[in-house]
Amino acid sequence: MADSPRRYTSDAIDVTYDAKRCIHAAECVRGLPAVFDTAQKPWVQPESAAANEVAAVVLRCPTGALHFERKDGGAAESAPVQNTLAPVPNGPYFVRGNVQITDAAGNLIIADTRIALCRCGQSNNKPFCDNAHQQAGFVDVGAVTDNQAEVAATAAHTQLPITALANGPLFLQGDFELCSADGQSVFRGNKTALCRCGSSAGKPFCDGTHKEIGFQD
Ligand code: SF4
Ligand code: FES
Repeated sequence: MADSPRRYTSDAIDVTYDAKRCIHAAECVRGLPAVFDTAQKPWVQPESAAANEVAAVVLRCPTGALHFERKDGGAAESAPVQNTLAPVPNGPYFVRGNVQITDAAGNLIIADTRIALCRCGQSNNKPFCDNAHQQAGFVDVGAVTDNQAEVAATAAHTQLPITALANGPLFLQGDFELCSADGQSVFRGNKTALCRCGSSAGKPFCDGTHKEIGFQD
């Protein structure tokens, strides 16, 4: 990531904002408009609400653009108990957990608890989503085949390494729950390849189409 996140401070809590990872999902401005208001300068004013409220809204940011650091002894950010991924209808994967993203050479791109990953293949900030799916007209409802019957519950508090394979899919190795966009079905597993070229006929899974279409990243 080229630019480092901006920091907004108060006595009780600091908020950091990484503009390159914000896709304007607006959870923040809807959740706490006194603190997150794009019409004011600076647009984040953490002193305008209780630190617990600020922290709760920051944790709703699905992309990890927002993070916080408590200065008042309040609870620090921590990873969710389970690693989860959800395809957003016509949009990215929202990933939550103890997640480490590496490139094909094994270099760490990011370790975070909230990340939005491109699945349309068009982002200029791969593997992150940059909202390119909107201009590209990417269409996928985010269905997931339910496999709960075959697979026991995933282990809690585990790491989820994800490799963005060269010109290929996202390769997951670690316990995860892949939840359909409508929340009706869950695929549990510990190893799979998810499409990030946007063209698999078996989304969200990779079916090898990235080779046919010459996907590059
Ligand atoms: S919740 Fe996160 S992704 Fe959404 S607008 Fe706020 S900072 Fe951006
Ligand atoms: S990454 Fe899309 S089919 Fe493999």
